[in-house]
Amino acid sequence: MPDPPEAEHAVRPAVWVNCAVSVDGRLAYAGGRRARLSSAEDLQRVQKLRANSDAILVGVGTVIHDDPSLRVHWDLLGQPPGRSPTRVIVDSSGRTPSTARVLDGSAPTIVATSERCSRTFPSGIEVVVAGATRVDLAKLFLRLHELGVRRLMVEGGGEILASVLRGGLYDRLTIYYAPVLIGGVSAPPLARGDDPVDPESVTPLRLVSIEPTGEGYVATYVPATRTELQ
Ligand SMILES: NC(=O)c1ccc[n+]([C@@H]2O[C@H](COP(=O)([O-])OP(=O)(O)OC[C@H]3O[C@@H](n4cnc5c(N)ncnc54)[C@H](OP(=O)(O)O)[C@@H]3O)[C@@H](O)[C@H]2O)c1
Repeated sequence: MPDPPEAEHAVRPAVWVNCAVSVDGRLAYAGGRRARLSSAEDLQRVQKLRANSDAILVGVGTVIHDDPSLRVHWDLLGQPPGRSPTRVIVDSSGRTPSTARVLDGSAPTIVATSERCSRTFPSGIEVVVAGATRVDLAKLFLRLHELGVRRLMVEGGGEILASVLRGGLYDRLTIYYAPVLIGGVSAPPLARGDDPVDPESVTPLRLVSIEPTGEGYVATYVPATRTELQ
């Protein structure tokens, strides 16, 4: 697997979006209950991706549902612990639970909020305000670049993926398709956000590769209008 693309933007980091879904495109079980969809091989791929990133970003919904550590599991890579990527939580109003693992101080952590957030966070957690009432991801990415982030990995969940993909704020998307069907009506899809009403409101992607990975496969896409990363 290639390293994440080098930053080639003057103003924002290179953004690599990664997620794991069922064959019907669901990120989790009914109601958002965490599904461990990655195979052992995919987990290793994701850890490598994390290790090669300067920062890993998720939305507050993922923190509430999954309570991820967003750390690199060096043991899965067979390597001694190295530099910890910065954890970035997108949380407009400060809904991150105070017990969340991302607030445990074990790695550099940024909470991105909006101007309407009055919550204070534990010392050591950096707060970046980007947006009036909701986090403006384009602004946030510029700020992250100013803070030295050149390679940003976006891990989800569905609302963040919708904003980043539909907003064209990414360079590469990798999706691990697990050989499982989830189905139902409340299992979250890969991308949430507004309902598309016509062909103009869908987001075009260009398929770059399909790699068998464990029992499933990883599909890699780039924005359809950007051809230079192929
Ligand atoms: N399979 C996978 O690879 C994977 C990976 C990650 C998560 N997940 C699953 O995804 C689900 C969580 O997804 P989710 O959609 O509920 O939450 P999410 O995408 O993690 O977070 C969404 C929240 O982020 C905040 N936000 C702030 N600014 C935003 C913006 N510009 N665009 C989008 N969101 C913004 C919003 O809350 P505020 O308005 O309060 O700020 C929003 O509700 C869980 O079921 C989890 O298990 C799966």
